[in-house]
Amino acid sequence: MSWTKTHLVGIEDLTLDELETIFRVTTSFKGILTRTVKKVPALRGKTVVNLFLEPSTRTRVAFEMAAKRLSADVVSVMGSASSIVKGETLRDTALNIQALNADIIVIRHTAAGAPAYLSRISSIPIINAGDGAHEHPTQALLDCFTMREHLGDLKGRKVTILGDILFSRVARSNLWALTKLGAEVTVAGPSTLVPSAFKHFGVTVCHDLKTALADADAVMLLRIQHERQAVAHFPSLGEYTSMFGLNKTRASWLKPDAIIMHPGPINRGVEIDSDLADSSRSVILQQVTNGIATRMAVLYLCSGGTPEALGETSDE
Ligand code: CP
Repeated sequence: MSWTKTHLVGIEDLTLDELETIFRVTTSFKGILTRTVKKVPALRGKTVVNLFLEPSTRTRVAFEMAAKRLSADVVSVMGSASSIVKGETLRDTALNIQALNADIIVIRHTAAGAPAYLSRISSIPIINAGDGAHEHPTQALLDCFTMREHLGDLKGRKVTILGDILFSRVARSNLWALTKLGAEVTVAGPSTLVPSAFKHFGVTVCHDLKTALADADAVMLLRIQHERQAVAHFPSLGEYTSMFGLNKTRASWLKPDAIIMHPGPINRGVEIDSDLADSSRSVILQQVTNGIATRMAVLYLCSGGTPEALGETSDE
């Protein structure tokens, strides 16, 4: 067993052993979610506060469901409805949530580094649910878990991430995770959104779509993150789609058994054709489903749970 961390700030901080521990616990919780009673008492008596200062559907709902499946109480705080709009600082917000006896804070924030900052001042676990363009660790964990379900061991497997890499926290967390797991990763898209600086991750940077797709075992599409782009990085969405959108013709360049992934939200008809998003090779909704067991594993481990003790948890 390899888990000693209290906080989950990013995949960059995790060892391969820690990734494997999360996957092992995720597998156990996924099994529990197929039972008639989809609940274990692992976090009974604890309170998880979801502090979401940026919009979210999948991550917020999955964290809430994960906490409830672990028998925790859950309180959700939305930025627009919190005292942050009255000028309260993030530090004071977090310290007040702690003073209210919360046991875990799950935070999404527009600013890269906000979860890392809170982890330094907090006496309770801080879980990063996405910070600016920095990291989205639980997304990468569920993405890699889903890939392993379809492809097995990712060592030597080829994964192409296509789209707005520059502004994507999902891309960064996946680059850390996939390279630690031994996958061969290509990042692809227009050069303005996929600069050669990404080579420092130990990945291939490719601006030719056919080359990027040809050998891939999995292709992960990313939406254009308009909210993080101060200036346009390409002439128009239509032009992006015509050059880099995944359509039926381009999907035929993929290997027949390659899987299509997307962290969501999808912009149908922009980075991916609607038919492909709904096709049998798309695992997009499986990614979403795996988000619950993955977040259960993270909440459980950061609360001091061990894989060994999981056998002792019983149905309620
Ligand atoms: N993938 C993801 O983070 O989706 P949400 O923004 O809906 O949480």
